[in-house]
Amino acid sequence: MTPKTPSESRTTMTDMVLPSETNALQNLFGGELLARMDRAASIAAGRHSRRITVTASVNHVAFNLAVPLGSVVTVEAAVSRAYTTSMEVYIDVWIEDRYNGKRTKANEAIYTFVAVDETGKPTEVPPLQPETDLEKERYAGALRRKQLSLVLAGKMKPNEATELKALFMQG
Ligand SMILES: CC(C)(COP(=O)(O)OP(=O)(O)OC[C@H]1O[C@@H](n2cnc3c(N)ncnc32)[C@H](O)[C@@H]1OP(=O)(O)O)[C@@H](O)C(=O)NCCC(=O)NCCS
Repeated sequence: MTPKTPSESRTTMTDMVLPSETNALQNLFGGELLARMDRAASIAAGRHSRRITVTASVNHVAFNLAVPLGSVVTVEAAVSRAYTTSMEVYIDVWIEDRYNGKRTKANEAIYTFVAVDETGKPTEVPPLQPETDLEKERYAGALRRKQLSLVLAGKMKPNEATELKALFMQG
């Protein structure tokens, strides 16, 4: 299969925060942000694979900044690495200042999607060819994140997670 670049899957969704989507502190409810990220990431995985994709795991979410009511929120998702049937999707969340347009990074997350056929059976996806320094950095770290996710899911033995072990062996 011909490799694809992250920019071919990049998906940008901008929306605002409404009162029904906030918690008691008038900030965006975490589950609402997870859903927005899942939607953007699903579209990105679909653009990379041109297949039906399902969320296999949510590997990392960092809610670094609260997102206040009325904020303009942009969710950007792109495939950061592709394997045989699975894809890691990196998601960045930005808040936009409505007066000067300045964007502040609020959150990020990493999801894993699997491409499936009409019967739900995993099916092959194209490889990913990173281009920018950030894309290359995310690509390089992806294998250990996959191994960690598989170990936590009980689908890989810790002693088989060679990339992950190497991380802890570094001085
Ligand atoms: C995701 C799903 C298709 C994986 O099925 P499976 O029988 O485990 O399939 P496999 O073991 O062949 O794994 C398929 C790929 O997913 C990867 N994978 C499976 N579980 C994973 C996990 N927890 N973390 C990271 N990758 C995972 C495997 O490593 C494999 O990747 P590769 O082919 O690129 O090497 C299946 O579990 C499923 O359909 N889950 C429900 C998905 C869903 O409904 N999501 C929405 C939740 S509401």
